[in-house]
Amino acid sequence: MVNTLDAAFISKGPWKSNLFQGKVVFVTGGGGTICRVQTEALVLLGAKAAIIGRSESNTITVAEEISKLAEPGAVLPIPKIDVRDYKQLEQAVAQTVKTFGRIDYVIAGAAGNFIADVAHLSPNAFKSVVDIDLLGSFNTVKACLPELLKSKGSVLFVSATLHYYGVPFQAHVGAAKAGVDALSNALAVELGPLGIRCNCIAPGPIENTEGMRRLAPGDFKTRAAEAVPLQRLGTTKDIADVTVFLFSPAASFVNGTITAVDGGAWHVGATFTRDMYPKRLVESIKSKF
Ligand code: COA
Repeated sequence: MVNTLDAAFISKGPWKSNLFQGKVVFVTGGGGTICRVQTEALVLLGAKAAIIGRSESNTITVAEEISKLAEPGAVLPIPKIDVRDYKQLEQAVAQTVKTFGRIDYVIAGAAGNFIADVAHLSPNAFKSVVDIDLLGSFNTVKACLPELLKSKGSVLFVSATLHYYGVPFQAHVGAAKAGVDALSNALAVELGPLGIRCNCIAPGPIENTEGMRRLAPGDFKTRAAEAVPLQRLGTTKDIADVTVFLFSPAASFVNGTITAVDGGAWHVGATFTRDMYPKRLVESIKSKF
């Protein structure tokens, strides 16, 4: 994987080049496509970033690649951290503060996903995804809270749109992301009086992402684009721009929101499972018994 943004993000975009100078972002899931481009954008605009990941090699490689967009030392990889383990996150926060001195922004983006119907979803499989997405998001914000209180910082949860309606093969993810939205709303209310904003970004079908590779096999891309009201798939730059807005002073009165970045796609339903529903779903469930 390579960086998807470059200097043109600043020269051709609406953002001031030093918008996030002096700021530090703590990112879980920074090895995945969505959180990675969010980090690229913030780093291009002057922030320092700590990338927290489970995989040693991927976390280090991604950090090295993103650091090419900025001055040396702007990106700190913190590998071998599982967001399900609160103590590990506390260590990651301590390492970030030791290196960069502060945390201003948090992207809680670590997530797990695979396609499985209820018959093929073990209790542990369901729990794994809920734990990574929901408990992991809670752990991330809780571990960063002392620093966020000092910086009057801002949190961005990475959610989805598939729990706005019933999406087959995604019960585990829908349940987890509904919880993430609820967590964000509650923390926006609890932490708002302390000067901390909490919001969610909910990406829809974004091309060239791990999510699309996992969830959308075959010639899905063309059909998915046709089903999006704006008649195209999203780009990682779409995610980057909304992320920058939500952390920027332009969003200083934006708190407790969920921003779908999906071209309006969720309003027209679960396009990616249309071919699999209901015939293949029913066959799959029956095959287990
Ligand atoms: N279908 C059904 N069950 C699955 C599955 C699949 N495709 N993949 C994993 N599982 C089950 C496992 O069988 C296991 O359940 P069991 O103990 O009852 O057998 C459970 O999920 C946990 O799997 P494990 O590999 O031990 O967990 P993990 O914590 O190492 O991995 C996952 C978590 C399963 C979410 C894994 O897919 C992952 O690490 N994903 C990270 C990256 C990612 O998904 N990104 C998505 C971005 S959209």
